[in-house]
Amino acid sequence: MKVNFVKSSSATAGTVVVGIFEEGNLGSYAQKFDQQSQGIVAKTIQYHNRFKKNLGEFVCITSPNHLPFDRLIVAGLGKKSAFTERSAENVGGHIFSQLISVNEKESTCILDEFESSDKKPANINELAAHIAYGMQLKNYRFSKYKTGIKPQDNPILEQVTIVVPDPVAAKKFYEALEKTLEGIYLTRNLVSEPGNVIYPKSLAEAAQSLTQLGVKVEVLGVAEMKKLGMNSLLGVGQGSAHESQLLVMEWAGADKAAQPVAIVGKGVTFDSGGISIKAAANMEEMKTDMAGAATVIGLMRTLAARKSKARVVGLAGLVENMPSGTAQRPGDVVTSMSGQTIEVINTDAEGRLVLADVLWYCQQRFKPKVMIDLATLTGAIVVALGHHYAGLFSNNQTLVDQLIDASKKVSEPIWHMPLHDHYDRMINSDIADVKNSVNRGSAGSITAAHFLQRFVKDTVWAHLDIAGVAWTESECPTTPKGATGFGVRLLNRFIADQHE
Ligand code: BES
Ligand code: MN
Ligand code: ZN
Repeated sequence: MKVNFVKSSSATAGTVVVGIFEEGNLGSYAQKFDQQSQGIVAKTIQYHNRFKKNLGEFVCITSPNHLPFDRLIVAGLGKKSAFTERSAENVGGHIFSQLISVNEKESTCILDEFESSDKKPANINELAAHIAYGMQLKNYRFSKYKTGIKPQDNPILEQVTIVVPDPVAAKKFYEALEKTLEGIYLTRNLVSEPGNVIYPKSLAEAAQSLTQLGVKVEVLGVAEMKKLGMNSLLGVGQGSAHESQLLVMEWAGADKAAQPVAIVGKGVTFDSGGISIKAAANMEEMKTDMAGAATVIGLMRTLAARKSKARVVGLAGLVENMPSGTAQRPGDVVTSMSGQTIEVINTDAEGRLVLADVLWYCQQRFKPKVMIDLATLTGAIVVALGHHYAGLFSNNQTLVDQLIDASKKVSEPIWHMPLHDHYDRMINSDIADVKNSVNRGSAGSITAAHFLQRFVKDTVWAHLDIAGVAWTESECPTTPKGATGFGVRLLNRFIADQHE
């Protein structure tokens, strides 16, 4: 989809979209269209009984008389005072869906209504950029495995023109946002791919493409990880025909000597549960169990694309969790890279086993000033928070505040969950230092976070449990069904605000 910003509209084709605030009137363009069409715009709004001008509501006039274009859409914008950049993105997403549903190819969006509002002129240009951004966030489809789709089943909006006071300024805002789109699309693509296509080696291979943008990419195989003593990670992959990998990416936006920000991802390319095998229903969803790793890769792409001024390392433990004659057994005891021994109670609690060694390796090698991991770690976080908030766990209140601040700004919600000695005691093992699972139905996400914390030294650390938010079964204004790319915007914003 091509996005243009222009100062005035003379649209003669396609769909023209004008906005209207709940308490507002038609803007100057809309008034002109109303006069030209002998009052049809005002009348349609008036007689449309359900149009309350709420954000996401529309009135559509097809082939309006005496107007030179094919369709006029009046888009509700909600309350003037409540309208933010996020509202603009949502409006963009809604407009996009509306245009796609009528198979429109080109559209002009007119923002003159904003000028009558209390928005500052500079802000109007920025809001315009966010409308286009919202459209692009929604403009994602993973259809590479559908053969012979007919064009009518695959509608494409080719061009959007946005009318703004200062097109050059709006374009600048938009180009900055576009850099995050690259990363989000990459993450969504990787998460959408099935397990026979994305396995540890092919996922590491996908990350190699980042070298073109100046990211240093390094991959360790089983032999190297054995030497390092990463038996906790290796135990998870030992039942699979695919070799486990450790992915290490570096973006040197700051002095090489600077302590880096470290982002660590869980990359279980398929989680069958292993010998503690999962039930068949919905097991196919476990191709998304590498979403943490995919988010780290997408984030590195965004940081490199916008030439971030921070030094950031991105690591991911890539394994496939399968049952077989060589698979790890429930009851096995492994010695992790940290030296701590782990009793594997349940082979389906594998993400924490992978992260234990990657977190340790990351701290030993990079001495990060802050370390954040992302993992589709527990079903329990979905029970607690559903599909809206990701769970946030941390050993540092300042980091919590910074992450929540970034989260609010980009509208990727996270909820602070507790850590407490009481929960930590629950993972003591009878025969080893720690066990990887406790009885079901009792603080499953918190005990998982405590397991990770046993492998965090005195590093400032946060853990994001993204099991509920990495994938959506229902359409959201700016996210189609499927992989969401959750976390790319959040961490990009966090790094921009706190470490550049
Ligand atoms: N990958 C799953 C968690 C998950 C569940 C991700 C639903 C996405 C959607 C994880 O490895 C897992 O199986 N966790 C177990 C832990 C239990 C055995 C202690 C769980 O949550 O049931
Ligand atoms: Mn599992
Ligand atoms: Zn898993």
